[in-house]
Amino acid sequence: MLAESIDYKLPEKEKKSEYVESKFDEIAQRYDLFNDLITFGMHRYWKKFVAKKTGLAPGENCLDLCTGTGDIGRAVLKFQPEAKVTALDFSSEMLELAHQQQGENAHGLNYIRGDAMAPPFPKEYFEAVTVGYGLRNVADLSACIKNILSLLKPSGVLVCLDVGKVNIPVIAQLNRFYFFKIVPLIGKWLMPGQEMFDYLPHSSINYPDQKKLKKILLEEGFQKVDVYDFVFGASTIHVAQKPASS
Ligand SMILES: C[S@@+](CC[C@H](N)C(=O)[O-])C[C@H]1O[C@@H](n2cnc3c(N)ncnc32)[C@H](O)[C@@H]1O
Repeated sequence: MLAESIDYKLPEKEKKSEYVESKFDEIAQRYDLFNDLITFGMHRYWKKFVAKKTGLAPGENCLDLCTGTGDIGRAVLKFQPEAKVTALDFSSEMLELAHQQQGENAHGLNYIRGDAMAPPFPKEYFEAVTVGYGLRNVADLSACIKNILSLLKPSGVLVCLDVGKVNIPVIAQLNRFYFFKIVPLIGKWLMPGQEMFDYLPHSSINYPDQKKLKKILLEEGFQKVDVYDFVFGASTIHVAQKPASS
């Protein structure tokens, strides 16, 4: 029996945004601890890697889409303290926590409540766009990638961190068991009865694997895509470059 065949139904496409926003509001207070527990703290290292891959120079602009509690935005500023980071999310509870953790880097960081499907920024404004565990949650992946491409300056870079697919069969089975059985248990131990912890693994079922996401990014107009796998591919980072001229 497949580990994922438990009694959980993903929201329909039209209701996905509303569902995701309200559920992240509900789990916001436990989100960081949950992430630390399920990745054994490794997400912090992966987010630093994302920040480094932006390659930002002083004065350049970065958009952190689906910023949540703001880890990646802050990591980007640590990597390049002279960058200007705009961090967007539609969950007001997640953004509230991001504000609380802003710390001494407040000057380079601007939080905005908004929808990644309709980002309120001029075209070709950002040198880099980062997104951590976000593309899996948007209502329309291709449309969101198109938006990102249009927000990037020529030669700009998208750095995307998310869950990936493991290729080694035995490890893939173990990973699936961990992700679909243990991860929800950890979440429900932190917040009893919270179904969002079942949504999380199930949202990965229809999300493209590393190769497919690379193909989609190239089809949408990115010129070059590098893929970095961690933990046998269970975690993956795509670095996609926009062409120098369109
Ligand atoms: C799994 S959390 C990731 C948070 C953070 N980027 C990280 O790496 O820990 C996903 C976040 O994406 C946000 N999100 C999902 N869809 C969104 C959308 N269409 N517009 C804005 N934010 C969105 C959720 O509110 C949530 O805070």
